Amino acid sequence: MKIGIVGAGQVGASAAYAIALLGTVREIILIDLDPAMAAAQAEDISHATPFASATHVRKGGYGDLASAKVVIIAAGVSQKPGETRLDLLARNAEVFRAVTSEVLTHAPEAILLIASNPVDIMTGVTQRLTGLPAHRVIGSGTILDTARFRVLLGQHLNIDPRSVHAYVLGEHGDSEVLSWSSAAVGASLYADVALANGKPVTNAVREKIDDGVRRAAYRIIEGKGATYYGIGAGLARLVAAIGGDERSVHSVSIMTPDVEGVKDVPLSLPRVLGKNGVLGDVMPEISADERLGLRASAELLKDTLEAVKV
Ligand code: LAC
Repeated sequence: MKIGIVGAGQVGASAAYAIALLGTVREIILIDLDPAMAAAQAEDISHATPFASATHVRKGGYGDLASAKVVIIAAGVSQKPGETRLDLLARNAEVFRAVTSEVLTHAPEAILLIASNPVDIMTGVTQRLTGLPAHRVIGSGTILDTARFRVLLGQHLNIDPRSVHAYVLGEHGDSEVLSWSSAAVGASLYADVALANGKPVTNAVREKIDDGVRRAAYRIIEGKGATYYGIGAGLARLVAAIGGDERSVHSVSIMTPDVEGVKDVPLSLPRVLGKNGVLGDVMPEISADERLGLRASAELLKDTLEAVKV
């Protein structure tokens, strides 16, 4: 399988690196406004392949995207310390107008994976700019927040985060909803496992984990300027799910017809991912409070998307 990555900065290059280590694709085309930088990223990542896979990584142009099954769009400007994702909006919308036109010209059948922030809005903008069906325009959404939730809850419970089935829903941003009510460990409710482990999840623990998830990006950006390893690995996981037609479940963002009464809004719910993109949702029963939070998140995203002139 061949894929393209538009934007060879820290997120795009980290995704390429993670994909090369997983060995799930045969060829990665790295595209950037700075071709020298894209070439350097490709050469550096190619030196990792003898330790991992036979993936071929090279710098290219849009014309090299022919027959690409997936194109990751990680182009645009990145979040500055203290800046919210929605602040990035106008700058990135213009970048996407140019990028999506080129991508569709050269890879009209590709599934688009959106990584640029504000990722839900950029997913909605891309779907509107391209007119592609919603299931083929997929934002990374809350896959990173869901991972952060699983890491922190797993640490508290002393359980492998891969066995913590907990989801973050809604916006990849400040209005996101951690679904505690549907969180499970293996086939058990997390609270039961916590009690059995003698480490009950008190309100204080919940608040600490909640804050740990919500503030992670701001903390990391303050400390090193950007986040990229977590999202890079997450994008690699999504590429594997599509390439392998896995039908695995991921909290990705797509334009969704109705979320708690809010129509046509891009946000994350647990969704089944396969070779043709999103196959459907697997929405858990969530608490009344979480439903209210999800509706508020949907309303924020709907209003923001409506404000974008595309
Ligand atoms: C994060 C930001 C960059 O969550 O979206 O890491």
